[in-house]
Amino acid sequence: MKVFVAGSAGFIGTNFVRILLRDRPEWDVLSFDALTYAGNPENLDELSVNPRHRFVQGDITDSATLDRAVTEFAPDAIVNFAAETHVDRSIHGFADVFVRTNVIGVQNILEVVKAHNISRYVQVSTDEVYGALDLNDGKIFTEDTAFAPNSPYAASKASGDLLCRAYFKTYGTPVMVTHCGNNYGPYHFPEKIIPFFITRAMNNQPLPLYGDGLHVRDWVHVEDHGNAILAVLEKGEIGHSYNVSADNERSNIDLAKMMLRILGKEESSITFVAERPGHDRRYAIQPSTALAALGWSPKYDAEHFEQGLRETIEWFQSHKDWADRAIARANGVNQHIA
Ligand SMILES: NC(=O)c1ccc[n+]([C@@H]2O[C@H](COP(=O)([O-])OP(=O)(O)OC[C@H]3O[C@@H](n4cnc5c(N)ncnc54)[C@H](O)[C@@H]3O)[C@@H](O)[C@H]2O)c1
Repeated sequence: MKVFVAGSAGFIGTNFVRILLRDRPEWDVLSFDALTYAGNPENLDELSVNPRHRFVQGDITDSATLDRAVTEFAPDAIVNFAAETHVDRSIHGFADVFVRTNVIGVQNILEVVKAHNISRYVQVSTDEVYGALDLNDGKIFTEDTAFAPNSPYAASKASGDLLCRAYFKTYGTPVMVTHCGNNYGPYHFPEKIIPFFITRAMNNQPLPLYGDGLHVRDWVHVEDHGNAILAVLEKGEIGHSYNVSADNERSNIDLAKMMLRILGKEESSITFVAERPGHDRRYAIQPSTALAALGWSPKYDAEHFEQGLRETIEWFQSHKDWADRAIARANGVNQHIA
């Protein structure tokens, strides 16, 4: 099996490539990444000696480069993580880049999948396409929930997903889409809330929470997400979408307090800042029976969330130089939380 992984220098992509190289010893992997501010070549450094892995720098919005890389590698499957992902950047002046990468880039991939008769394409998407729930709303997202995106980021991801659906319906393109809640774990870029708070707390800086801090996210460990994508890649049904959830809802304020407790720091470092425009109150995904039928279940369920968070904090403590360099690369864009 030869797998073409787009967006492999980012947070989830780099974890996924590691899972493939570790758990599928017969497989070859091509990493394809534009290395935007969020793409960190350091993440792939230690993999450069692996003869089953190679890296090509390229942009999914550049169809000629994408086609050339696919022609040379001749993959059996493509998994796409390449995306603009930071909600705040989509709100504060960069929406055009989100549309370019998350919509046009996905359409370019669909075209190469079609042109090269690639057997399977997994498009990695987000629960944010479903919009927001109220705090006391019993409803939770399922694969049948209608899209109602609220941020330019979520709208661009939903648009990419709709193109996947349309290519499947029109051409039979062998696409599957996954929708996952917020991820945490190693190699997380420090503009997102968990690594942002860990790195700030480690530097004795305040932790700024939007609004009242009661926004709820449904957290999934990146290793669990990677294994879910692998299950879909190997056993998923073409044309289907799969939600990924560890049934692990947490409010931002409870999350901040748990991190501070693990780090042995005072809760007084939590501060409240002006609300984010259009800030989704709550995401909550119903554990997917379709994904369970593929044999997947999360290792880090709600009961093991604190363990996953503790391990993540320990990773950041032992990779302080990595985090410092990643923050420098962000060039000031890591001032907001996701
Ligand atoms: N992080 C989460 O909590 C989360 C949750 C659910 C779904 N997702 C989805 O998972 C995917 C990966 O997310 P992430 O957190 O790893 O993102 P990330 O921002 O850490 O990484 C994105 C990667 O894509 C690359 N990239 C961006 N534009 C590109 C382009 N035009 N061509 C080629 N490469 C490009 C970047 O260089 C970077 O390496 C995204 O599609 C995101 O929507 C993320």
